[in-house]
Amino acid sequence: MARREPIVIKVEASSRYNITIDSNLNQYAAQAISEKTIVLISDNQVFPIYGKNLIEALEASAKRVFSYIIPAGEKSKSAEQYLNLLRQMVNDGIDRDSAVLALGGGVVGDLAGFVAASYMRGISFYQMPSSLLAMVDASIGGKTAINIPEGKNLVGAFWQPKEVFIDIDFLASLSQKEFKLGAAEHFKHGLIANKDILNDIKDPDFKPSGNKKRLAKMVAKSAAVKAAIVSIDEKEQGKRAFLNLGHNIAHAIEAATNHTVPHGDAVAYGLLFDSFLSYKRGYKDLRAKTIEFLEYLEPISMDIEFDRLEPYLASDKKTKAKIQHFILLEDLEKPIIVNDISPTELKTAWQYLKEIR
Ligand SMILES: NC(=O)c1ccc[n+]([C@@H]2O[C@H](COP(=O)([O-])OP(=O)(O)OC[C@H]3O[C@@H](n4cnc5c(N)ncnc54)[C@H](O)[C@@H]3O)[C@@H](O)[C@H]2O)c1
Ligand SMILES: [Zn+2]
Repeated sequence: MARREPIVIKVEASSRYNITIDSNLNQYAAQAISEKTIVLISDNQVFPIYGKNLIEALEASAKRVFSYIIPAGEKSKSAEQYLNLLRQMVNDGIDRDSAVLALGGGVVGDLAGFVAASYMRGISFYQMPSSLLAMVDASIGGKTAINIPEGKNLVGAFWQPKEVFIDIDFLASLSQKEFKLGAAEHFKHGLIANKDILNDIKDPDFKPSGNKKRLAKMVAKSAAVKAAIVSIDEKEQGKRAFLNLGHNIAHAIEAATNHTVPHGDAVAYGLLFDSFLSYKRGYKDLRAKTIEFLEYLEPISMDIEFDRLEPYLASDKKTKAKIQHFILLEDLEKPIIVNDISPTELKTAWQYLKEIR
């Protein structure tokens, strides 16, 4: 059977690994994973669709597979779920030569990654991201985390996967809304580093049932942006902060609304917010571009007073010593870090945003 060549993106962080993008990747993944015992972690929405074929492929490559299934959703990124998984692994006799394989969206990837990072002080880890967000963002860069009641992603570790297998076929079962939420990070990557990506939202194949080859190319462009940034700055001491474009305000919106606003919606507003701030500082006016994205995503309407957001802006965990680490755009593909945004500027930008929506 003739087989297409997969698209391979290299990440060169503290460890080097490949992101391999193609259709029908199970067999390839089974052969690429060198460990004999695999802890497959997935959620109860993704596993019923893709678990069986993946396990068959792994077993055909003489792997022993233990499958652990968590409930789908952000609630599973918890200390309880984390501990459950570790305890099951001990009870199943998983040793340090085994590997964890995450099959799912960013929730599964972050949780499984932290399990891999900490089980017996760290075992091999592989990712098979299934949501658009996980494919272009969460599965790349080695950030793993769980949430605690005090805040999201407050506990975790940097733990690089040995390979990321992006099976483009998985997108077909993703809901249109989840796809669009993931598109927020995709579009953000376009603003930061590859303006071609910005046109994807107008491409008829940019949807779960789109042409696989075209989708693979679009995902690859975006994954390459994240891969390049985390290769330069794995631990977020500099340029990795560019990935926070739109996220200062997005995190504040999410915290102020008790996470009832989806992350992608909050980011979409954040991108417009940051393009307004950039424009007001005399940089390129990119508001029309980011408004195109809002029109594509159709986020829930935003009726929050600025006073409710402000406390979360000051205490953003990425803000060091109360200085606002804002990411602005001098132009397309020209992000900069700004440390002197004033509360008045923030308030004016929020007023603008509220008038637009
Ligand atoms: N580690 C990082 O660098 C990083 C970056 C961005 C986001 N994140 C984290 O990622 C998480 C969000 O990820 P997400 O949006 O993928 O959420 P998710 O994992 O909850 O997936 C969203 C929903 O889609 C379902 N789903 C996933 N793939 C599917 C498929 N192929 N078919 C049908 N249904 C499918 C899931 O079961 C879930 O219900 C957050 O916890 C966030 O903190 C991490
Ligand atoms: Zn994000």
